[in-house]
Amino acid sequence: MRLTVIGCGYVGLVTGACLAAAGHEVYCTDIDEKRIEQLKAGKVPIYEEHLDKVLKHAVAEKKISYTADAGEAIRVGEVIFICVGTPPKDTGEADLSAIDHVARQIAQEARTPKLVVEKSTVPALTGVQLQKALAAYSQRGSVKFEVASNPEFLREGTAVEDFFHPDRIVVGVENEKSAEVMRQIYAPILERKFHCPVHGGQCPSGTRGELLVTTINSAELIKHASNSFLALKISYANVISDLCERIGADVEEVTHAMGLDPRIGTQFLKAGLGFGGFCFPKDIQAFIHLASSVGVDFDMLKAAERVNKQRIDRFFEKIRKALWVIKGKKVAVLGLAFKANTDDIRFAPALDVIRRLLEEGAEVHASDPQAISRTKPLLPAVTYHEDPYAALKGADAALVCTEWKAFRNIDWSKAGQTMSRRLVIDGRNLYSPKKMHEWGFEYYSFGRL
Ligand SMILES: NC(=O)c1ccc[n+]([C@@H]2O[C@H](COP(=O)([O-])OP(=O)(O)OC[C@H]3O[C@@H](n4cnc5c(N)ncnc54)[C@H](O)[C@@H]3O)[C@@H](O)[C@H]2O)c1
Repeated sequence: MRLTVIGCGYVGLVTGACLAAAGHEVYCTDIDEKRIEQLKAGKVPIYEEHLDKVLKHAVAEKKISYTADAGEAIRVGEVIFICVGTPPKDTGEADLSAIDHVARQIAQEARTPKLVVEKSTVPALTGVQLQKALAAYSQRGSVKFEVASNPEFLREGTAVEDFFHPDRIVVGVENEKSAEVMRQIYAPILERKFHCPVHGGQCPSGTRGELLVTTINSAELIKHASNSFLALKISYANVISDLCERIGADVEEVTHAMGLDPRIGTQFLKAGLGFGGFCFPKDIQAFIHLASSVGVDFDMLKAAERVNKQRIDRFFEKIRKALWVIKGKKVAVLGLAFKANTDDIRFAPALDVIRRLLEEGAEVHASDPQAISRTKPLLPAVTYHEDPYAALKGADAALVCTEWKAFRNIDWSKAGQTMSRRLVIDGRNLYSPKKMHEWGFEYYSFGRL
């Protein structure tokens, strides 16, 4: 099938690359012409494991192409995936101006019927507005548009793996014809008819994902409801962690035992600096806004958001208690990305931590395996090091902000010899307190004895 992808960011590129690997012809476009030029030159503008291989293969097989001419991309595709950003406004409401812009382009450029698929995360009822906008902007009343919602559940860091091995694919549609088109698009993924770069073509057998057909409103709600629930879980674990500190219990013992109950599950119960990234913080805000706009009280989400914001304060209490005066101290920050295995720094807790350290007059040295080049323009006052050991040299304290494997594997007995003071404040609970103490470190983490 001929597919158009509008928006070549994390979601658009992974969607385009994986659907091309599944045998479709994919035409990608983006408003950022520089990005399209990069892609044409074979450069992948984001870091996501396996994505470069999948894109390279798709280009070689002539299954994917890039153009800055949105009209050309729109006219050629039978199905159009909208993958543009939906950032939060100051009010928390999702900013849908990019979706509106794309709707106008589709309506004006299409010459043949299109199925227009929302892959961007949007609040419920956006599909209704999109259908209206396509009709209103169309200068050719004869072109027919159908709308569908196909929320994306990939996780940055394992996005290609997630797209190729989904636990569920949700398609919200208006009619059976659109449902059938979406089934055809995803059939090669569900039947594993693609070369899997993650498992070298030998994906483990086991449960395969399911394609669920719903209404458009339900599909939109499923995405926000899922992300908000996971955010709630993280904030819950963080409050338990604060309780553990007050009463002398260990959060990892508590959450591990809780998670063994299959009704609860072990994932997303990790205490620490809290959630960041382009999804949870904005999706929880948009969901709160949506609920309030239709008169539903969703105060529990407001509490989860408040708990998450306070994690930085809690981290700073630990820093201040350990370092006493922050001004003039050399501080090594390990991790900039909002989580491991990505270069994404949007709403990353590390950046808030660094801003506060700089405000208080600390000398900040930072290291991250992938996110330095994205962070540099935003925080030029920081000294950056590819090598974490170089960041730690002469430091009065090390602050761990991202759970990269490279940081998990740091040889602290070696690093400690070059630090000015053996002090680690761990925002991700990466190390064993016992081991760190044996190596002569003052070590503080979240909710542990
Ligand atoms: N990043 C994730 O992990 C993830 C996961 C699931 C869903 N989502 C959702 O998917 C959407 C995209 O997220 P992302 O992380 O890929 O964002 P992104 O910022 O990486 O990518 C968005 C892309 O859209 C382009 N764009 C913006 N306006 C445009 C326009 N009018 N025409 C053409 N291109 C335009 C931008 O230049 C950019 O390349 C968001 O709604 C997000 O909530 C993201």
